[in-house]
Amino acid sequence: MSEQLPSAPLVLEKELLEGFVAGYFKDGEQYLSLLENHGSPLWVLEPSVLKAKALSFSQAFNAYFDKTSYYFAMKSNNRPEVSATLLESGFGLDVSSGIELRIALNLNARDIIFSGPGKTDEELNLALQHRDRVTLLLDSFGELDRLSALVSGLEPASPIRVGIRLTNNPKGLWRKFGIVPDMLPEFWEKIAALPHIRFAGLQFHSSWNLTPERQVEFITLLGRTLARMPRDFNQSIEFIDIGGGYWPEEGEWLHSPEMPEGSSPQENSIPWDRVRPHYRIPGTPIETFAKAISHAVQTHLFPFVNCRICFEPGRWICHSAMHLLFSVTDKKSHDDKENHDLVITDAGTNVIGWERFETDYFPVLNLSRPGLLEKPCHILGSLCTPHDVFGYAYFGEGIETGDCLMIPCQGAYTYSLGQNFIKGLPGFVKL
Ligand SMILES: Cc1ncc(COP(=O)(O)O)c(C=O)c1O
Repeated sequence: MSEQLPSAPLVLEKELLEGFVAGYFKDGEQYLSLLENHGSPLWVLEPSVLKAKALSFSQAFNAYFDKTSYYFAMKSNNRPEVSATLLESGFGLDVSSGIELRIALNLNARDIIFSGPGKTDEELNLALQHRDRVTLLLDSFGELDRLSALVSGLEPASPIRVGIRLTNNPKGLWRKFGIVPDMLPEFWEKIAALPHIRFAGLQFHSSWNLTPERQVEFITLLGRTLARMPRDFNQSIEFIDIGGGYWPEEGEWLHSPEMPEGSSPQENSIPWDRVRPHYRIPGTPIETFAKAISHAVQTHLFPFVNCRICFEPGRWICHSAMHLLFSVTDKKSHDDKENHDLVITDAGTNVIGWERFETDYFPVLNLSRPGLLEKPCHILGSLCTPHDVFGYAYFGEGIETGDCLMIPCQGAYTYSLGQNFIKGLPGFVKL
């Protein structure tokens, strides 16, 4: 999921970390009573946080654009209650499979965009059946051909609204998404000749942006492409969808400055008896993204098109709205001084589906014994693999079997990736 790190990590500031931890301890009793009532482990969703995030995100961009639409990227958290809350906030939904499309339809979403490579005929047909609510973002010439064959079988049919996904990185593995901008004239020629397919816009997406540079760079290139496109093409553009990929402002928190995403720590490099410093790659306020992106759009795109600007944020919206609660089931010491340096929990990292916490740092809070001092202790899950790590320290006054732990802000790319691997999945509750 990651690309290169944009800037060198700083040591994570003590005040920032303490403020974060204290904010969740303040409501500790509330979280503890949820665990008592609903059992452990447990996902907790805070819809009020989702709504606040949706509002700040849209306000930031609405300050610059007259016509906007916002679509929550369901893949970042596919819990239906999350999408339902965002629909209440006036967002549409961005789906990437037939499964996600069905969830969106069942939630009665009226404005859905369906993007993603390799859509099957079954998925294309589902979009076609619901073309009053779905805009299909075509990913390739092959997909256009298959769609065209499917639509021609449906007579008489009102046209399906489509957009074209553009690849913003034609080298490496990202080239699997969309078509290169240079192929737009050929695509336009094909699509303009198809009566049941109505071209309405363009989309691109880049992931993991701690700053707006990559988005601005592609908008600049897209402006050069539009300058070469025929007038009727530019006049047909009703929307340009600039995707998601906004990293939360607090930045990326890491265990080590040398460990980029995806690499694992050397077993012996993690000390047992002290808390190592944590690191942070700084993020950017959403208002700064909005200012830079809107400037680029005004300068490079609006000379050629007069259209709606669409957004597909996932992580930025749901990251801080969902938390993981779990409990200590065992503890072990590796010396005879009763220095318990290792606990085992009732959840394994199957609940988030990947080895996130080997590289990413998130504070573990002991809700049963709150305290603002971070203490060394390996917090390990109950799966039969040593990669089952939640953290190497906790905040609290000691740690004992039966204690309730919390890792806040686990709303993005965790719940959706959870697996029934050895252990089951946690319960779920909405605050
Ligand atoms: C097409 C598309 N749009 C939006 C998103 C959401 O990205 P993020 O959660 O980083 O905002 C993704 C994520 O992979 C995506 O592939």
